[in-house]
Amino acid sequence: MKIPLDRQAKKPVYLQIRDRIQHLIHTGHLSPDTQLPSIRTLAQTVKVNKLTVLEAYSALEADGLVRAKQGAGYFINPPNLRAPLTPAPLLPSTFNPAQEVLIPRHGITSFTESYHASLQSHSQPDSINFSQGFPFAIGTDDLQRIARRAMKEAHTFFHPGQPQGDLALRSQIAQLLIQQGLETSPENLIVTNGSMQALSLLADHFLSPDDWIVVEAPSYHGFLSILQQRNAKVIGIPMTPQGMNLRLLAQYLESHRPRLIYTISTLHNPTGITTCTSHRRKLLALAEQYDCLVIEDNAYEPLSFDITPPPIKAFDTTDRVIYVGTFSKTLMPGLRVGYMAVTGKENSALTERKLLHDFRTSAASQAIVKEYLSSGHYRRRLNQMRALYRDRRDYMVNALIRHFPPNVTWTVPNGGTFLWIQLPDKVSLADVCTAAAEQKILVGSGAAFFPTQQGYPALRLNFSLSPEQIERGVQVLGSILRTV
Ligand SMILES: Cc1ncc(COP(=O)(O)O)c(C=O)c1O
Repeated sequence: MKIPLDRQAKKPVYLQIRDRIQHLIHTGHLSPDTQLPSIRTLAQTVKVNKLTVLEAYSALEADGLVRAKQGAGYFINPPNLRAPLTPAPLLPSTFNPAQEVLIPRHGITSFTESYHASLQSHSQPDSINFSQGFPFAIGTDDLQRIARRAMKEAHTFFHPGQPQGDLALRSQIAQLLIQQGLETSPENLIVTNGSMQALSLLADHFLSPDDWIVVEAPSYHGFLSILQQRNAKVIGIPMTPQGMNLRLLAQYLESHRPRLIYTISTLHNPTGITTCTSHRRKLLALAEQYDCLVIEDNAYEPLSFDITPPPIKAFDTTDRVIYVGTFSKTLMPGLRVGYMAVTGKENSALTERKLLHDFRTSAASQAIVKEYLSSGHYRRRLNQMRALYRDRRDYMVNALIRHFPPNVTWTVPNGGTFLWIQLPDKVSLADVCTAAAEQKILVGSGAAFFPTQQGYPALRLNFSLSPEQIERGVQVLGSILRTV
């Protein structure tokens, strides 16, 4: 099979392969039940990595154009098995908060509290748990098989490993990032114990006690607590439906000259918002103008339902952006494998910090992730998760429309596992959470995600639950909101 590739093009190679095969299918050059070349053969013919072909085949599989037969390869689907080409219409977001900058006088966050609450919620199996920030356990049978295969290299776990992480794993992560539009190489990557460790190391490395740091308000409460522990001075710039308010960002960069901007550009936690390319470029231009570093933490990026714009790091020519990622949201949080892409002189300093912190990330966990990535299970798993979560998101949005009072607004994220609900100002968040808990409905209190723990009353709801749970939980929450 001939596949012309343009290696200079912005479009990733795997998408070029996917598009070519898609074209051959739609024009009848590849008929139903024809077998595609094996991954190895096509990789050799078009001179690309096997992982790239696997990505292309998996993308075709996700579109319903081909099917994988265990041990036999990939086959073209007949037209009646193909998914419709047009995506389901997106239900509009109604989120539109007031634009208030938050500067906490005393750091108050509650990550430890909310972590313990989430531990407790796991011991209440009869409740409906909307508060979870992690995916629910799926595919544990696969994990057992893959873990057994990964343990074949257990003898190497006795050797001292590279502090920046296993080279083969870093090459695989670099491939994934290239497919997300970030041209990078294994040398730029440092594998960490979850992305939380990357965030801690970065805060330790870059922040001095009197430094200001800009965060989005709301933002990931785990990082807010890391900042509080280090007595960092935080400026919370409000989120608009398009991302961090850039007008206010410019104003506070001018007045406070912060050292760092922390942003979650794709599937922001907790709002689920993904910024567009022009927002990303403008944010970077501001960081350059005021000589600020940027931490781009895209924990949920692989769970996007659509192709996302390249990360801010992709436009960075002055080594000021550090990109942080994780496998916690797509594989298992318990593996504790995350990473950061650091270019320029800070890479070796951060690698040394990692070495002195804990030598390296668990070799066993790295081996499991490596096996996942090389076997194609990862891509298949992502496809399954995205299809499932997309249905569940639509289900939840429809339930919100039916059951919530009209003065409540929400975001409609294009991926991930949760959406963000803004409640009317007069509503007591504590009363809503308590009344919901009394009926065994657990919700994520929005207060934890604001630097001051104040902000407007809001809830973060995980939409990856079953339709029955979503229906019942949203109905109960709706009736509480009509009475408080
Ligand atoms: C935005 C964001 N960053 C980082 C993390 C930390 O994830 P982990 O340390 O499990 O990789 C989380 C976890 O919820 C998150 O939501």
